[in-house]
Amino acid sequence: GNHCSCKSQIKNLRELAKLFEVSLKLTVPDEPNVEPLIEPAKFGDYQCNNAMGLWSIIKGKGTQFKGPPAVGQALIKNLPSSEMVESCSIAGPGFVNVVLSAKWIAKSIENMLIDGIDTWAPTLSVKRAVVDFSSPNIAKEMHVGHLRSTIIGDTLARMLEYSKVEVLRRNHVGDWGTQFGMLIEFLFEKFPDTDSVTETAIGDLQMFYKKSKLRFDLDPEFKEKAQQAVVRLQGGDPVYRKAWAKICEISRNEFAKVYQRLRVELEEKGESFYNPYIANVIEELSSKGLVEENEGARVIFVEGFNIPLMVVKSNGGFNYASTDLTALWYRLNEEKAEWIIYLTDLGQQQHFHMFFKAARKAGWLPDDDKTYPRVNHVGFGLVLGADNKRFRTRANEVVRLVDLLDEAKDRSKAALIERGMDKEWTPEELDQTAEAVDTVYADLKTNRLTGYTFSFDQMLNDKGDTAVYLLYAHARICSIIRKSGKDIDELKKTGKIALDHAAERALGLHLLQFAETVEEACTTLLPNVLCKYLYYLSEEFTKFYSNCQVNGSAEETSRLLLCEATAIVMRKCFYLLGITPVYKL
Ligand code: ARG
Repeated sequence: GNHCSCKSQIKNLRELAKLFEVSLKLTVPDEPNVEPLIEPAKFGDYQCNNAMGLWSIIKGKGTQFKGPPAVGQALIKNLPSSEMVESCSIAGPGFVNVVLSAKWIAKSIENMLIDGIDTWAPTLSVKRAVVDFSSPNIAKEMHVGHLRSTIIGDTLARMLEYSKVEVLRRNHVGDWGTQFGMLIEFLFEKFPDTDSVTETAIGDLQMFYKKSKLRFDLDPEFKEKAQQAVVRLQGGDPVYRKAWAKICEISRNEFAKVYQRLRVELEEKGESFYNPYIANVIEELSSKGLVEENEGARVIFVEGFNIPLMVVKSNGGFNYASTDLTALWYRLNEEKAEWIIYLTDLGQQQHFHMFFKAARKAGWLPDDDKTYPRVNHVGFGLVLGADNKRFRTRANEVVRLVDLLDEAKDRSKAALIERGMDKEWTPEELDQTAEAVDTVYADLKTNRLTGYTFSFDQMLNDKGDTAVYLLYAHARICSIIRKSGKDIDELKKTGKIALDHAAERALGLHLLQFAETVEEACTTLLPNVLCKYLYYLSEEFTKFYSNCQVNGSAEETSRLLLCEATAIVMRKCFYLLGITPVYKL
């Protein structure tokens, strides 16, 4: 964890920070600008880290204190009493360890059970964000990299939405490249009457792309025609526009199948959408003196890179960079987004960093990347096959995403049945739950910056840290509650929670830290932080359940409520990770 309470919007961290704010004012009245530094602690519950830094400020100024531990002691002495804090102690060179009151933790959970889990959502200081994700290219392959982009992007969007940010989910589809010239010409050849073209007639659009590419490379006459076609298309010729729209539509329907299976929603605003604005944007950048001639092309020189950013090709055409600069302009000025997040593999990092720099140079963005409006490239590593090369089929073909999802589903389903879930769930429920859950979870739990080797076996066999295991753990908790025969909604209203056993307290504290975790995952843009949290939650629950009898014990009500709170937080995690659990109450 890496939280700074002063910036955190999380209720418990803020409340604790406020207490230390008061104490800091009393302890060092001559240093009014010191902000409390609070973070979760390895040993206590939280720790305040101000004493050491304070000491280095005040030691030269004739202070009464004899060292950091003495500063820490004073911070403890001056801490206003509160229901939240049970006790404080000094550790190491002067850390103040804070132990929260078990009563207060219990009360917070009781409140959540009554008011709902959404009252635990963090509030980020951003109103509107764009998440630019998935973004495959028309007629080209939608590969595993696009799958990663889709999965990670969807989760980030969900977490931001949960944190009360309005998210514009944007599919920046590559629908405007020069490849359309050859695709359209090839289409005309195969289907002189474009109206009659159907999806089934074209068959596999990727195959279609390959064949037209072959033609393009081998037949100079065709190549010439294809290049003319690009000009006509970009000039707005209706016949060419129509053919273009047809190809896009067929591709779009293919993509939609994948999105539907993953239950991902996003709005297509492809490269072509920004086309009408590009000339003006390049004009604006030119008038600011940013654009220069370079070997016939027009470029922007940005510091720190040894090649310039090309924004107009030597033939006068626009490219990926000019489109991205224009999309950024549009998102900032027309859509009024304060935070724009892009998801692609790390291979595109330079492209993003270059056009971000150009935008800073134009004064569109502040110079640092912490102040809003803010842009972030969320890069991720490559997905590798067992041979440590790009993930491909045995025939060295790109793996079709639908095939991959089918196999993933079959395997998840088999793993669920192995755990006996077919006795709890109907075949439909089993089907619905199995849908690619482990592909998603296995991806999200890795730190996105590292690539990983794709292996179905690994996915389902990672010391219990799999979606199937977590879904099973959740189902087990639900069945504990069900078997009690108690009306849990009634208990929520009247029952009280006590966290007397160490395992109960540890579980309670972990539940409370849900909001901080979501906030951290949002600010670091690392979904694996939430996966780790979810996995530990299941572990804390197991410790609790093997130490504390629930049904039939004297503490039954309290413990059932803890079970219920755990199930609720788990479900919220699943939801944020894009996994849909089936459960019966
Ligand atoms: N279409 C691109 C690709 O497949 C990704 C686009 C990402 N978004 C962007 N604004 N550049 O590699």
